Amino acid sequence: MKQKPILLRHAAQLVTLQGTSAQPVTGTAMSTLHIIEDGAVWIEDGSIQMVDRDEVVTAFYRDRMQEAHVIDASGKVVTPGLIDPHTHLVFAGSRENEFEMRLAGKTYMEIMNAGGGIHNTTRATQAASEEDLYEEAYQRLNRFLQYGVTTLEAKSGYGLTLEHEMKQLHVAKRLQDTHPIDIVSTFMGAHAVPAEYKHDPDRFVDILVNEMIPEVAKSGLAQFNDVFCEHGVFTPEQSERILRAGMEHGLLPKIHADEIEPYQGAELAARLGAVSADHLLRASDEGIRQMAEKGVVAVLLPGTAFFLKAEAANGRKMIDAGVAVALSTDRNPGSSPSESMPFIMNLGCLTMGMTPAEVLVAATINAAHAIKQAHRVGSLEKGKVADLVVFDAPNYSYMQYNYGVNLVDTVIKAGKIVVQ
Ligand code: NIG
Ligand code: FE
Repeated sequence: MKQKPILLRHAAQLVTLQGTSAQPVTGTAMSTLHIIEDGAVWIEDGSIQMVDRDEVVTAFYRDRMQEAHVIDASGKVVTPGLIDPHTHLVFAGSRENEFEMRLAGKTYMEIMNAGGGIHNTTRATQAASEEDLYEEAYQRLNRFLQYGVTTLEAKSGYGLTLEHEMKQLHVAKRLQDTHPIDIVSTFMGAHAVPAEYKHDPDRFVDILVNEMIPEVAKSGLAQFNDVFCEHGVFTPEQSERILRAGMEHGLLPKIHADEIEPYQGAELAARLGAVSADHLLRASDEGIRQMAEKGVVAVLLPGTAFFLKAEAANGRKMIDAGVAVALSTDRNPGSSPSESMPFIMNLGCLTMGMTPAEVLVAATINAAHAIKQAHRVGSLEKGKVADLVVFDAPNYSYMQYNYGVNLVDTVIKAGKIVVQ
């Protein structure tokens, strides 16, 4: 049965971000939002048909107003659906025991090097059935939706063998087919060096390059290839080999760069023309300059810095240097167990020197660019997928000021009301 059109009316602020689909938003453009006051949107067949002032939209659709489902957004802010461009969505178990160890003084890397951390979750994920992984991740997606996320990227990387990496990627595909949130998949077999290769990590890199990457690419289950380039995990040389192998097989490069120690990760991202470099807490000034020059999107994860009690990435400096900045939860069981993009946006303002306008751009259209989805989502424009969030806030600045609270009122995904 054909669905009723939706007419969203009288938004106090309709943040459209129009005209941003072709290129990531950089520099001062990140703080100049296109806003329509008393705005309206006509939604039909899953996509946005018209975005304008209420009087214009209602005049145009005058003869069809009766058939529409009307949402009154008076006194509220309406934005594009939030986009989370970096999650480790599919995994089993949780790590609150390690959280307690960290509170008592152990570091994240100490725990990982002692066989915990990513290895801990890998053991649990390898042991889990596809069904259990699906059920757990489905609940996580429901929480993401409650916080206004309508598209997200999901990485594998807790399998670390072809069989178990494929299991994670299959789960992501099933979620994409059954959950309202759209999922873009990334292969991250290079998330950690398994214990059995600890003394010969290059052997594991050989397996990634010669066996896993070609098979994953052939399956069509991933669009991107990611690597944890970090002292004690994969070196910049190994990371480059892994990312180049992916590129040869059509997987676009992403990189976990300069998270814990400065390691030339931003420079590597620029050299490879990576779609994004993520984390960047310890990125060098030169690396930042090169990322701006090459148009690599910086995906910043202030929730991870917060949770690891580390100094956040310098978002302000990156924006001022001309880097396109996006924001993400980094949802994972070890360094960022949260599905709240609004809280991440709060942290963007409070710990990274970003403005309320900048964090909104970073969590919508720039996040879409970071996962190559800006042609479909990330802004409110005719022809785009009708993904919108109504926030119970009188203006977009209030969303950052009233921090740590879920202000989501209504979520529309592909033209359907999914949260109300
Ligand atoms: O992005 N840094 C590496 N990977 C994840 C953490 C994964 C985990 O601890 O399970 C991250 O922070
Ligand atoms: Fe991550």
